[in-house]
Amino acid sequence: MSKSDKSAKTNPEAVSKEAADKAHLDIRGKKLDLDILKATMGPDVIDVQNFYKRSGYFTFDPGYTSTASCESKITFIDGDEGTLLYRGYPIDQLAEYGDYLETCYLLLYGELPTQAERRQFDDAITYHTMVQEQMSIFFRGFRRDAHPMAIMVAVVGALSAFYHDSLDINDPEQREIATRRMIAKVPTLAAMAYKYSLGQPFVYPRNDLDYASNFLHMCFSVPAEDYKVNPVLARAMDRIFILHADHEQNASTSTVRLAGSSGANPFACVAAGIACLWGPAHGGANEAALNMLEEIGTPERIPEFIARAKDRNDPFRLMGFGHRVYKNYDPRAKIMQRTAHEVLSEVGHKDDPLLQVAHELEQIALKDDYFLERKLYPNIDFYSGITLRALGFPTSMFTVLFALARTVGWIAHWREMIADPTRRIGRPRQLYTGPVRRSYVPMSKRGTGLGADYHRD
Ligand code: SDX
Repeated sequence: MSKSDKSAKTNPEAVSKEAADKAHLDIRGKKLDLDILKATMGPDVIDVQNFYKRSGYFTFDPGYTSTASCESKITFIDGDEGTLLYRGYPIDQLAEYGDYLETCYLLLYGELPTQAERRQFDDAITYHTMVQEQMSIFFRGFRRDAHPMAIMVAVVGALSAFYHDSLDINDPEQREIATRRMIAKVPTLAAMAYKYSLGQPFVYPRNDLDYASNFLHMCFSVPAEDYKVNPVLARAMDRIFILHADHEQNASTSTVRLAGSSGANPFACVAAGIACLWGPAHGGANEAALNMLEEIGTPERIPEFIARAKDRNDPFRLMGFGHRVYKNYDPRAKIMQRTAHEVLSEVGHKDDPLLQVAHELEQIALKDDYFLERKLYPNIDFYSGITLRALGFPTSMFTVLFALARTVGWIAHWREMIADPTRRIGRPRQLYTGPVRRSYVPMSKRGTGLGADYHRD
C-alpha cells in the first residue's frame, strides 16, 4: 500500500499531499486514481466527473458540504479566517474605498475599472434605469399587501417578456445588454414594489443621481414635496449593496447557475435566484433576524431565546447566526455593525433598544459553549435588519434589498458559466431507497379501507 494509501487508510479524510496530483481510492478491492485539481486559494479538489463511469458508484453529498459544483474566479471565502475577496480584493477595502458600481464592474470583468472604463459603465447603467411603462400594469395585479419578494420574482422574470433583443445567451453582445439592463432596472423594480405596497405613485429614476441615491430617491420621494437624499444614508446604502454583492456558490447563486445551465434566459435565471434567496435560511434571514430581535424585545428575555436556540426539539434558531462556510465572524457582519451605528446616529436613534438587544445577544452567544463548539457567529443578516429599518425600510423590503445587491453576483456567475466551453446541463443523480420494481395491482385486489398512511388535508 503506498504512503498516501496508508495515510488515507488511517485518516480517511486525508488526501496525501505527496500525491499532489492524484488521490488513490480502493473501493471493495477496485483501485481508482483520481486527479487532484489545484486551487489558487482554499482547498484543492478531487475530480470525480468520471467517477460513476469508472467506478459504477455515485458520490453522496445532499447539502453540498464537501462538493465543488464548478470552477470560479469571482469570489473567495476563507471560512476559518473570516475573509471574503471579490476578484482577490478584501471586502473591507472595497467597502471602505470603493462603491457599488465599481464593485459591479470588478465582479463582472475581473479588474477595477480605469476612469474611462468607469465613466462608460456608469453611463451604460444610468441610461437603462427606466423600465417599459407597461411593466407598471403588472403591479396592479397584486394586492397591496403582497410580499414584495413575490412581486420581484414575477416582475424580474417578466423582463424577458419585454427585452427580446437580449435573450440569446450564445450572443456575447446580448449577454452584455441583458447584464446592464438587470443591474440598471432591478433597483427601479424594487422601488416600484415598495411604492406599490404603500399605495404611493411610482417615482421615476433620475440620471443626475448616483446608484444608491437614485434608489433612495425612488423609494422615499413623493410628488408632494422635494426630497433631498441624505449623503450619509446614501453612502451607507451603497456600502450595504457592496457587502451583499456576491458570495461564492451560495444557494441562490447555485440556483442561477443550475437554471442557466439549461440555456434559460438571464432574466428567468435571476428570477429563480430571487425565489431561492427568499428562504429564511438564506436571504430571508435579515427579515427573520429583525423579527426575532423585536420578539426578544429586552435583554432580560435573551436567555429564554438562547435556550430555545440550543434545544434540539425546538425548531427555533438564532436568525442572523451561523453559516455554512464562515466558522469565524462573517467579515460583512463587522462592517454592517459599524454601518448600523453610523445610520442610527444620523437618523437620531443611536439608542435604538434593538441594537442593545442585538449586542447583548451576541456577547452572550459568543461565550456559550453551544455556539462556540459549533463555530456559530453573527453573519451579515444579524445587523442588517437594524440598519435597513433605520434607513426607513419595512422588514418586508429587507430581502428585496439583498436581491437588488446580489443581482450582480448572480449575473457574474451566470456569465462565467455560459462562457465556459465545457458547460453542460446540471443534472444531479441520487441515492434511491424507494420501492423495488413491483407489478400493478387492480382496484379489485386492493384493500377497501383507508390505508394507515392515508394523509387527510
Ligand atoms: C446567508 O451561503 C451563503 O453564503 C449565504 C449568505 C450569502 O451571502 O449568500 O452568506 C447569506 O444566507 C447567511 C445565513 C443566513 N441564515 C441565517 O442566519 C439563518 C440561521 N442560520 C442557520 O439556519 C444555519 O446556520 C445556516 C443555514 C446559515 C447554515 O446551516 P448549515 O451549515 O447547514 O449548518 P447546520 O444546520 O448543519 O448546523 C450545524 C449545527 C446544528 O446543530 P447540531 O445538529 O450539530 O446539534 O449548528 C446548529 C444546528 O442546529 N445551528 C444553529 C444555528 N445555525 C446552526 N443553532 C442555533 N441557531 C442557529 N442560527
